[in-house]
This record gives sequence, C-alpha cells and structure tokens, in this order.
Amino acid sequence: MSKTEAKTEPVQYRFPEGFWWGSAASATQIEGAADEGGKGKNIWDHWYETEPNRFFDGTGPQKTSRFYETYKEDIQLMKELGHHSFRFSISWSRLFPEGKGELNQEGASFYHNVIDELTAAGIEPFVNLYHFDMPLALQNIGGWENREVVSHFVSYAETCFLLYGDRVKTWFTHNEPIVPVEGGYLYDFHYPNEIDFQKAVQVAYHEILSNAKAIEAYRRLGGDGKIGIILNVTPSYPRSRHPEDVKASEIADAFFNRSFLDPAVKGEFPSLLTDILKEEGFLPDVKPGDLELIKANTVDLLGINYYQPRRVKAKEHLPNPNAPFTPERFFDHYEMPGRKMNRHRGWEIYEKGIYDILMNLKDNYGNIECFISENGMGVEGEERFRGEGGMIHDDYRIEFIKDHLKWVHKAIQEGSNVKGYHLWTFMDNWSWTNAYKNRYGFVSVNLDKDGERTVKKSGYWFKRMTEMGGF
Ligand code: BG6
Repeated sequence: MSKTEAKTEPVQYRFPEGFWWGSAASATQIEGAADEGGKGKNIWDHWYETEPNRFFDGTGPQKTSRFYETYKEDIQLMKELGHHSFRFSISWSRLFPEGKGELNQEGASFYHNVIDELTAAGIEPFVNLYHFDMPLALQNIGGWENREVVSHFVSYAETCFLLYGDRVKTWFTHNEPIVPVEGGYLYDFHYPNEIDFQKAVQVAYHEILSNAKAIEAYRRLGGDGKIGIILNVTPSYPRSRHPEDVKASEIADAFFNRSFLDPAVKGEFPSLLTDILKEEGFLPDVKPGDLELIKANTVDLLGINYYQPRRVKAKEHLPNPNAPFTPERFFDHYEMPGRKMNRHRGWEIYEKGIYDILMNLKDNYGNIECFISENGMGVEGEERFRGEGGMIHDDYRIEFIKDHLKWVHKAIQEGSNVKGYHLWTFMDNWSWTNAYKNRYGFVSVNLDKDGERTVKKSGYWFKRMTEMGGF
C-alpha cells in the first residue's frame, strides 16, 4: 500500500496533516566515542570514572549506542520507520572540550554530517543545546552555580546557531532544566551530588537566565526559525479536595513546574514560589537588568516531556528543622492506591496527565505552540519478548503510546496548539545511572554484538501509524 492510499484508510484517531511524528535522544545517551574525536570530558565521564558503582551494571558513558559511528545507518532506519523529525542534542564538550575557547573542528563536522544526513532523509532536525552534560572544566568552576558559565553557554549557543542555523530551524536551549537541579543539588542522582537548596536555586536561576540570553542571541543573530525549551511539566495532583492537600499540590506545582514554565513562557516568576524563597531566605542572586531580559526573551515553542504524574498530600509529620531544606518541607508524596504502574521504572502511568498539561497550556499559557517532545516506556528484560523472527514484540509499548495519543487527540479536538509527538526514544540508549537497565527504543541495541540494531514491533507499528495519519 502506498503512503497516499494509507492516508485514506479509516482510522479512529486521525491527527492533523503535517503532525510532527518522530523521536528524541541526547548526545551522551547515544553517541558513545566519549574520548574520541577531540571531545572533552563532561560530568558523566568524570562521575563514572570516580564512582562506577553508581551506574547500573557498572556501565558507563564511553560507548553508549555508538551513534557517533553509525549515524548514517541509524538515520536511514529513522526514515524507514516514518520519522518526520528527530530531536537530538549537541554535546557541549564535543564542540568545546573545555566548554569555552577553541572550537573542536572534528566535533563541529560530526554535527554538520548528522544534520545533512537527516535533511537528505527528509527528517527535520530539532536541535537541543543542553541535555544534562556540563563540560567538566566548567563544572570545576561551579557549573550552573557560576554566572560565568551562563556566558560560556551563550557563546556555545551562538556558535551552534552560526554553524547550523542555515539547516536547523527548530532549536531548544535546555531539556528538563529542573533535572540537573534535582539530581545535582537536591536528591543525589547527578554529579556533583550536593544537597544544598541555596545552590539549587542559583543553578535553576542561571539556567533560566541562560535560556533567555540564548534566545536573545538567536534573534540578534537573525535566526529565522523557532527557539524554545523542553520542560517535564509533570502535573501535581492533590490526594483530595481538602484545602491542605490542594495547597500542597499548588506549592509542588510552583517548585517543579511553574519555576521554569512561567519565566520561559510568560517571562516572570510565580509569586507563590518567590514568596516562599523570600520567606525561607533562599532568593537567588539576581543582577540588575536580568528580570527585564527574561521578560523580553520568552520561547516561541514549548517541548513537553511527560512520563508520570506527581501526587502529593498535606504534610503529615513535622519536618526535622535541621535536615537539609528541600521542597518536601511543604508536602508529602502520595501513593494513590490502585495506581497503574510501570514497575520497571517505578513510575505511575496516568495517560490523562498529558491532556491536563495541554489544557493547562491552553487555558493559562496563551495556548503556546507546543509538542510532546518525550513520552515513552522503559522496560527491563525485553529480550524475553523476542520472537522467532528476531523481533521484540513490545505490544505494551504500542498500547502505552496509543493510550497517550488518544488524550493528545482529545486535546487537539478541544483546541490545544500541540503540533507533534516524539517518542523517547529511537533506539535503546544509556539512561544515565540506570545505564541500559530499562529499554525505551523503537529499535533494540545489542550491546554484546557491537550495538546491533533490530526493529521492534512498535517501530513497525509507528511507521504504519504515521503513514495512515493516526490509528
Ligand atoms: C527524560 C530525559 O527525563 O527521561 C531523558 O530527558 C531520560 O534523558 C528519559 O533518559 C527517561 O528517563 P530514564 O531516567 O529512565 O532514562
């Protein structure tokens, strides 16, 4: 059946013509070649060298899914599997081994080649600049804690706009900027493994500032595409309608969602959050002119990563006043009885959350143009689903995608400005400290056979679905 014929097939959930179907990945998680091609070390290379035991099965970032070598074949496979767009990130330390200074030409050529290959395959490159991978040299001067790093980020961003802006028309400054705050400064799952709320606030603030400054630079340099940010705006659901539960959820929402969403889209900080920071004595160091700059440089486009909801309730016990300060001073996490779980990852599955996010953007954020930039299901031990022909029958992933897309479809019917859906991820990749424990891809990667690829059932299903424009 041809693509044109497929489009006329009856489908129950039809998506608009030109919907952005694709997938997402990040440099550290797929490239490998961590010490090759002139790349400098980033915090992942360093953390793994010093504490390999923190990584599942002791697997580090050196080789990951070998995209550095196999990008041509991988991009051909993306094409075969119906991709219209693909989001990847540039490794800052591959372009600038020290995070600043001289450009590494070999690194620059690699991304030229990837972008050319995608373009030739008819796949639109969506490029993200920062995905958790601080160059080690800059982390050694404090990383995002240090305002100087904001300037280095802007120089790096400008270089990327100038090098690739002729072919890349969709840019993102950051992916999930709250995660380096949580992981690195609150909950110990990213380097530098500190527990320090004041630093966490400063890191978040500098990321927000760097987003606005990079947007300013893009426009100043005459960028003729769109620039945005990717946020994991996990909705905060209260246990009940009790006013104290509701208040707990509003505070959690302010800390984890509105902290980035409001400045990125509206150019201002929510007073619910700034009042708390002020009262608790944790306001960040803000320089004159910053707030005006943030106000003037908001995003064109928002990427939404959605995996799980956040459920909270009013605090049940007085917090230890001497324990390190965390947002949990104001709420407790709530495990809803009967919740549907992805037990491999330990995350609740709540499909309607994706719709609630889109409706929130429609009602409270001017219905800004957005797309689902990540959604997906990490499963351990997928080999047991490999059938005789060698294909992994990941029907659970197909169901997961469908169940979320139904809600995206409903949001579109109700006027959401959502423009696409990217799965996390194209091929199995390195999930940070979880390494290769949970697999997310449309394509499996066999680490014992030099990263050999085989398409999973979901990959073929996706191809067919994109041809039909729905399911
Ligand atoms: C998102 C990130 O948080 O979720 C990805 O942008 C990450 O980098 C993905 O891999 C899935 O989470 P995890 O922790 O299972 O890899």
